[in-house]
Amino acid sequence: MKRRDFLTRVGLVGGAGAMYGTMDALGLIASPTNAPAAWAGEQAAWRPPHKADFDYAGHHGRPSVVVLGAGVAGLVTAYELGKAGYRCTVLEARGRPGGRNWTVRGGTEETEIGGVRQRADFSKGQYLNAGPARIAGHMVTLDYCRELGVPIEVFTNANADAYYYNEGVGPLSGKPIRHRTGKADMYGYVSELLAKATDQGALDGRLNEADQARLISFLRSFGAINAQNAYTGGSRRGYSVEPGAGTEAGTPLGPPFALEELLQSQIGNNFSFEFGWDQAMLMFQPVGGMDRIPYALAEAVRRTGGRIVSDAPVVEVLNVGGGVRVAYRDGWRTRVAEGDFAVCTIPPQVMKGVASNLAPATKDALAYAVGVATGKIGLEYKRRFWEEDEQIFGGITNTNMDLSTIWYPSYGYLGDRGLVVGYYNFGANAVSYGDAPLPERLSRALAQGRKIHGDAYARELRTSFSVAWQKIRYSEGGWVSWPSRTSGQYTRLLEPDGNVYFAGDHLSYYIAWQSGAIESARKVVMQIHDRVRSA
Ligand code: FAD
Ligand code: ALA
Repeated sequence: MKRRDFLTRVGLVGGAGAMYGTMDALGLIASPTNAPAAWAGEQAAWRPPHKADFDYAGHHGRPSVVVLGAGVAGLVTAYELGKAGYRCTVLEARGRPGGRNWTVRGGTEETEIGGVRQRADFSKGQYLNAGPARIAGHMVTLDYCRELGVPIEVFTNANADAYYYNEGVGPLSGKPIRHRTGKADMYGYVSELLAKATDQGALDGRLNEADQARLISFLRSFGAINAQNAYTGGSRRGYSVEPGAGTEAGTPLGPPFALEELLQSQIGNNFSFEFGWDQAMLMFQPVGGMDRIPYALAEAVRRTGGRIVSDAPVVEVLNVGGGVRVAYRDGWRTRVAEGDFAVCTIPPQVMKGVASNLAPATKDALAYAVGVATGKIGLEYKRRFWEEDEQIFGGITNTNMDLSTIWYPSYGYLGDRGLVVGYYNFGANAVSYGDAPLPERLSRALAQGRKIHGDAYARELRTSFSVAWQKIRYSEGGWVSWPSRTSGQYTRLLEPDGNVYFAGDHLSYYIAWQSGAIESARKVVMQIHDRVRSA
């Protein structure tokens, strides 16, 4: 078979990525000496480094890399470099891979900074994704699920049957309102107002007559307004008597709330959440818990020759004459790992406390990032009352109470038990829950949830486990915020300090997403690879 025919067939079977890889292996693409930088910017296509690259450059030694942290960024770094023939040692402070990707199951233990201890008593099959819980279809995270064989399922991020519940604002205070009802009314009234304004000539300077007619036609279907452009409710709101057999046509829930009531009660405040680039349905989760990803990555790192050392907190990072020396604890002893390069994926707010000979500007950059407080509580119930009594299958209830959101599980539907996220909150609310003793975190979550779900919310509880990320050792926050990305500190960490590189979601525009950790890791992988090849 001619080489071009062979490549065409590879292209047909494996797509452009496979074809590119094969061309690379056959030496048909630019050699390292005349190749453009493989990572030419954040938008460049990802081309994993390849073992054969060393042959082109005449490198036969295998560079060694010490990776600090076995979170998603560290594991992807070691996996991609391992595939390309680098010798990687991953030093991880915790006894498990994943870092913030942490799934709490029965038996999970944690002692917070400050000494609060918990041991989860969740039943078999029940779990709390304490950190990441959802993945958008466009995120690179799913590429690793595909590559590593991690099965995924839909994560229900929006559900018409979940509630909006606000307190202390307007006449609808204290009233759980289904998403479908709130949206039907708000979309209806907004459509009515715009259609009437259009009819009265308010848009004459903006749209011609034909387009005004098209706009009104759109609003009729979008807002379910009638021929007089009035919103009068309808079945979108739900039913008080559902349609059934024979002559039972159903009775739509009504009448609609008044527009003023809805506005004063801030019912539309959370609508836009589900329009977000990163939050719009469909979303996904690994089957069996988010930590299936780091466990699969850790296995893949080992398969590609990498070594992961657990319970090994790094205590010192040194640039030493053309390489790195990293000291870490092994029980009461201190050991040293040496390499050509280090990739530090320790969160900056933690790394700033680790001894090093990094430049003052680097240390300043690490100290500049601000850890963000966030918390979750997992409530395991003996009965899935939200499904059985309220027909809520997954999704999220939004409130203006300090618990912020209640999440219904997107797994185990129709089963006996189930695990609800009783709060997932941020900032001051998360600090306030995190500072409370464990029983108070639970009692506050239950007292607020009862207002929405009634007595079952407390009565059917089996057990709980709460996480205050700002108090979790080796994380000290759910993620970081940068006071500025243009003041120099953020960009400082995008470049190496000597032979020490930095990666993690904090060095991406996907902060608080695993995809940011992965994109950042890949960027550093290419930086190192380019440096090795051009040496
Ligand atoms: P980390 O996971 O923090 O990894 C750093 C590693 O360094 C850890 O393993 C840590 O133990 C280790 N370490 C720390 N100190 C030392 C030391 N001294 N020595 C050695 N090792 C050390 N992402 C999503 O994709 N979807 C979501 O829905 C989502 N929701 C989230 C919700 C919450 C509450 C949180 C907290 C995060 C969420 N994220 C989500 C973000 C996601 O968890 C992170 O972006 C990602 O896991 C970060 O990976 P990382 O490797 O950069 O950092
Ligand atoms: N990415 C985080 C979440 O979706 C903040 O919950």
